[in-house]
Amino acid sequence: MAVRNSTPSAKNYWGWRSGNCPALQLHMNQLYTVLNTGARMPLLGLGVYDMYDREAEDAVGRALEIGYRLIDTAAMYKNEREIGNAIRASGVPRRDIFLTTKVADADQGYEATLRAFEESSRKLNCDYIDLYLVHWPIRAPLKDSWRALEPLFAEKRVRAIGVANYLVPFLTELDTYSTITPALNQVEFSPYLFLEDLLLECRRRTIQLQAYTPLVRGQRFSDPKLLRMAEKYGKTPAQIILRWALQLGVSTIPKSANAERLKENFNVFDFQIGADDMNAVNAFHENFRVVDDPMGLL
Ligand SMILES: NC(=O)c1ccc[n+]([C@@H]2O[C@H](COP(=O)([O-])OP(=O)(O)OC[C@H]3O[C@@H](n4cnc5c(N)ncnc54)[C@H](OP(=O)(O)O)[C@@H]3O)[C@@H](O)[C@H]2O)c1
Repeated sequence: MAVRNSTPSAKNYWGWRSGNCPALQLHMNQLYTVLNTGARMPLLGLGVYDMYDREAEDAVGRALEIGYRLIDTAAMYKNEREIGNAIRASGVPRRDIFLTTKVADADQGYEATLRAFEESSRKLNCDYIDLYLVHWPIRAPLKDSWRALEPLFAEKRVRAIGVANYLVPFLTELDTYSTITPALNQVEFSPYLFLEDLLLECRRRTIQLQAYTPLVRGQRFSDPKLLRMAEKYGKTPAQIILRWALQLGVSTIPKSANAERLKENFNVFDFQIGADDMNAVNAFHENFRVVDDPMGLL
């Protein structure tokens, strides 16, 4: 099944069946999106922030066994070596895994970004990286970091390049110094931080939106509205939140190092949230952030 792109309308964007989402495909029992590079990327992945050493290796190994095929790390997470080890030990073909890493704030700037890329590649030791992101829009070296990513992509050192924490003003500014459209923008996004304008702007620009801290680090799991929705669908609060993102066509990368929660977070492909309930979850929005607001960097 492939649902092709069409012009997003302001209000009818909730469901991938509406055709207003990026091209989505059902493949190996999970949803994939097609990036503007033509590469296929699973919509649901594992975030590996705040896991280290053996815990990180075990979590990624378990996740790959369960069926996760997208792993999101960063130089800043200090676990690239372990992620690479787990991928190689898993027996899952490298081509079936989508691996993201990011240039750390301290490594931004043209030459420093190029060096950081070599260092990440060496630690991951995984033949290639699928997606390389500018981790934060740090004011002074911002443009030079992006200018370093473009040749990495052109020379096929990385299969896609993108940004993180780029709210609309940063994307507008990017137009003035980029020649390549980012494949993806990773931002904090959840029902409690429903960035509708950014979602539509990314769609307009063919940039895949990806939700980080999608589970609000558990800080809204006792919200009665969410609990009622979970009860209605016979699912957990985490599963409702993740399924909501997928139905918006938003990629989502929950973190868990716990075997049961890894399974729970992946078990979201067997139900569908109805249109009225999608709109109800959109309305949970309360502009609640766990991580710093990138606008502070503008
Ligand atoms: N680009 C950026 O600037 C940026 C910033 C932040 C995060 N990220 C990325 O986004 C990923 C996810 O965000 P996050 O780690 O900040 O937060 P999150 O995924 O919203 O929440 C993770 C927390 O929730 C717990 N958890 C996971 N599944 C659960 C479930 N089903 N029920 C109850 N608790 C559950 C985890 O504990 P257990 O491990 O014990 O299960 C962990 O404490 C990160 O790992 C990272 O890859 C990117």
